[in-house]
Amino acid sequence: MGAVLVTGAAGYIGSHACLELLEAGYDVVGLDNYDNSSPEAIRRVEELAGRSLVAMYEMDLRDREKLNDVFSNHEIDSVMHFAGLKAVGESVAEPMLYYDTNIGSTLALIGAMSKANVKKMVFSSSCTVYGSPTVDQVPLTEQTPLHAVSPYGRTKLLIEEMLSDLCAADPEWSTVSLRYFNPIGAHSSGRIGDAPNGVPNNLLPYIMQVAVGLRDALQVFGDDYPTSDGTCIRDYIHVVDLARGHLDALGLLEEPGFTPINLGTGVGSSVLDVVNASSKAVGREIPYEIKPRRAGDATAVYANPQNARDALGWKAKFDLNDMCVDHWNWQKNNPQGY
Ligand code: NAD
Ligand code: UFG
Repeated sequence: MGAVLVTGAAGYIGSHACLELLEAGYDVVGLDNYDNSSPEAIRRVEELAGRSLVAMYEMDLRDREKLNDVFSNHEIDSVMHFAGLKAVGESVAEPMLYYDTNIGSTLALIGAMSKANVKKMVFSSSCTVYGSPTVDQVPLTEQTPLHAVSPYGRTKLLIEEMLSDLCAADPEWSTVSLRYFNPIGAHSSGRIGDAPNGVPNNLLPYIMQVAVGLRDALQVFGDDYPTSDGTCIRDYIHVVDLARGHLDALGLLEEPGFTPINLGTGVGSSVLDVVNASSKAVGREIPYEIKPRRAGDATAVYANPQNARDALGWKAKFDLNDMCVDHWNWQKNNPQGY
């Protein structure tokens, strides 16, 4: 059996996927330009797994020449494609950076894969492809109409369309697009986790930086939404469950075609539910203040995860309390990240 090539291997989700792959006995070739990550993540993955990646390339995915070398140097069976930029606000300010990085790197990857006759890919998509759903559209199924509302979201949607066109044109291609809901948590060892640069945009990293004393209080963006406690509802999913879903998706790559699959728990939690679960995990109250709504936030976004069960045999194992305990374990052991 050949190896799995993991792009964005040192990132938050990529590092957890590498660990699951190594533990399941796969050979892994990693690639990352460390734009938003550290080589230390890979070192710790290898330490936890007790075995090493076959190779770890420090390179930009858009470097087509080097990428062809990666495929020549190793026998690669399939690709997990995590590499890309992911900050919604930054994508509005710098759209061309997002199109260049996310679309450009995927085009380079597909080119190198075609050349090497490797035609199986699991792609990191996002529930952002559903845009800002109305309350009567949730829970979201894969049939919910797609609508991107940011340059970041448009890169995900465009890549999905590219993969779908590619599979329609060449029946040897097989691609699974995993539409992640809100990944949080960390490996239970507390050795690998989410280490955002600067002020976190996302809820859990912000809460945990408050808990560790790096920030004073969480700002809750709006408490006047039509939900039980007035704050927004999201579908938080443990990053280890998410990583497991990628291994299950490898099995689906035996069948040709483009398959989009939601990876969420199906459970919607409010911002205050997350604050309460985090307070419990940390062992003291997380201070917060109510602020105005954040532009672009949808009231409620959560998955119907039935298709993941049917197509992958996948089901989330961890609940919100587990996610907060594991995220805190990572944060308290690594207050400054890697
Ligand atoms: P991350 O930033 O931690 O990981 C992405 C990795 O890709 C980083 O290590 C970065 O250095 C690398 N990278 C970026 N551009 C590159 C390039 N041109 N060449 C080589 N490496 C490059 O992000 P993550 O949270 O692990 O997300 C992984 C994927 O999942 C991304 O595609 C993201 O859009 C998608 N996703 C993430 C979330 C989330 O909330 N974390 C939600 C939905 C989808
Ligand atoms: N929130 C706060 N305070 C904060 C941060 C977040 O109250 O400091 C709230 C948000 O208003 C939202 C919830 O917490 O209601 C979750 O916010 P996140 O930023 O953690 O996550 P989002 O659901 O907004 O974003 C996610 C992914 C994006 C994706 C987007 C669109 O992180 O990649 O969903 O579906 F594009």
